[in-house]
Amino acid sequence: MTTATVSPAVRNNPADVLAGDLAAIAGRPLSAVTGAEIQAPLIQGGHVRYANLDYGASAPALSVVSAYLNEILPFYASVHRGAGYASQISTSVYENARNIVRDFVGGRPDDSVIFTRNTTDSLNLLAGCLPHTEGRPAGDVLYLDIEHHANLLPWQGVPHRSVVAAPTIAGTIAALLAELQEGHVSLLAVTGASNVTGEILPIRALAALAHEHGARIVVDAAQLAPHRRINISADDVDYLAFSGHKLYAPFGAGVLVGRTDWLDAGTPHLAGGGAVKEAKLDGVSWATGPARHEGGSPNVLGAATLARATQVIASLDQDLWHAHESAIRSYLVEGLQKLEGVTVHQIFADADPGTGTIGVVNFSVAGYDAGLVAAYLSAEHGVGLRDGRFCAHPLLKRLGLPSGSLRASFGVGSRLEDAERLLAGLEQLRRTGLGWDYVVDSGRWVPANDTRTYPDWAPNTPGTAGAAPCLDD
Ligand SMILES: Cc1ncc(COP(=O)(O)O)c(C=O)c1O
Repeated sequence: MTTATVSPAVRNNPADVLAGDLAAIAGRPLSAVTGAEIQAPLIQGGHVRYANLDYGASAPALSVVSAYLNEILPFYASVHRGAGYASQISTSVYENARNIVRDFVGGRPDDSVIFTRNTTDSLNLLAGCLPHTEGRPAGDVLYLDIEHHANLLPWQGVPHRSVVAAPTIAGTIAALLAELQEGHVSLLAVTGASNVTGEILPIRALAALAHEHGARIVVDAAQLAPHRRINISADDVDYLAFSGHKLYAPFGAGVLVGRTDWLDAGTPHLAGGGAVKEAKLDGVSWATGPARHEGGSPNVLGAATLARATQVIASLDQDLWHAHESAIRSYLVEGLQKLEGVTVHQIFADADPGTGTIGVVNFSVAGYDAGLVAAYLSAEHGVGLRDGRFCAHPLLKRLGLPSGSLRASFGVGSRLEDAERLLAGLEQLRRTGLGWDYVVDSGRWVPANDTRTYPDWAPNTPGTAGAAPCLDD
């Protein structure tokens, strides 16, 4: 295997941009992740270390979590119903995962912790548990137009109202207040951090606002949880949803944590085995507690690794964690802003670029389709990032990006060099243009005449077809 050299972005010496020891802190991963050293083949020949700037989609597994998985895998068995040794161990791991996750989010002792497939599933579950009075929905669900589809579409099946976010966070709070004052809102559904721009919403203030108007709040923490400690008791958040696969755990389990009354009275999310107290041929008495919504055999290893990942994240030194992430972010944003034709996108003019953002940066390059830039960065520079509309179609349209943009996202396994690699690739694009021909195949830009192959164990077919579900209309 030959290793290609990647030139650093000449205009962005980290020491010039980052004060004190920030360049050193951001220069190495904060926590080891599995796959950090994989080599990506380049279209023009040679390999480079894969620069993974797509953490916001799915983050690599923490090495500690991978080791834990190997440890528990031999004991993996069915949970709840097995009398055997392995079943008992698996059951205790699975049930204990609830307590670990409850602690991680600062849950109240009587909060339910329900394992789901992912954040999308968690929010759909909650949509089936909204309260009713005299057989009718007790109120509307209120949400902003900046939400990921996971926190938008589940509410469209119930009475709902949407609010267009203002150009500032302060203005957005005022717009939500005005809508809450209209009355008849049962739930405010809001993201903790935008998956498009990384801007953080003030969830404590929003929870207070919702409660003052007789509503509850659910926070979609799919993006926030991997980047900030959350305490739902302190912030008075009623429900919180997030996904293991974005929080450095493999297997894609998700979780919904929150107040038990609505959940115990709601429609069972998955009718079937385990969700019942007693079933008859034509009738059923449903269980309460997490079992009510966890019909069928659960994702034991998904829940276990999710819980283990939360322990690692909880043990991080918070100052160091934030310094690492915000140093990479400010270096990247500053570098992007210096590049001619590159525009960095944000929703709110008053979001603090340091404390008010997570490791997600959104941008576009004038004169190039976002998909073409992503294909070029992957093929010619071994940089992986996301393009498209990020399952947030209404927001992208409102930002004037109806055909999409690019998103670089990073986390505890990232290092400054990942950002340098992206900047170097973009700089080369501006300077010399594309170094290869690209064609559109199944709606995606791909390098023409691509003869690179996957490892022996992977099906050697490009993974583009159907791979961008949120890109199409
Ligand atoms: C803010 C936000 N909410 C929800 C989701 C959906 O997460 P999942 O695919 O794990 O259901 C995502 C995924 O990108 C997200 O970024």
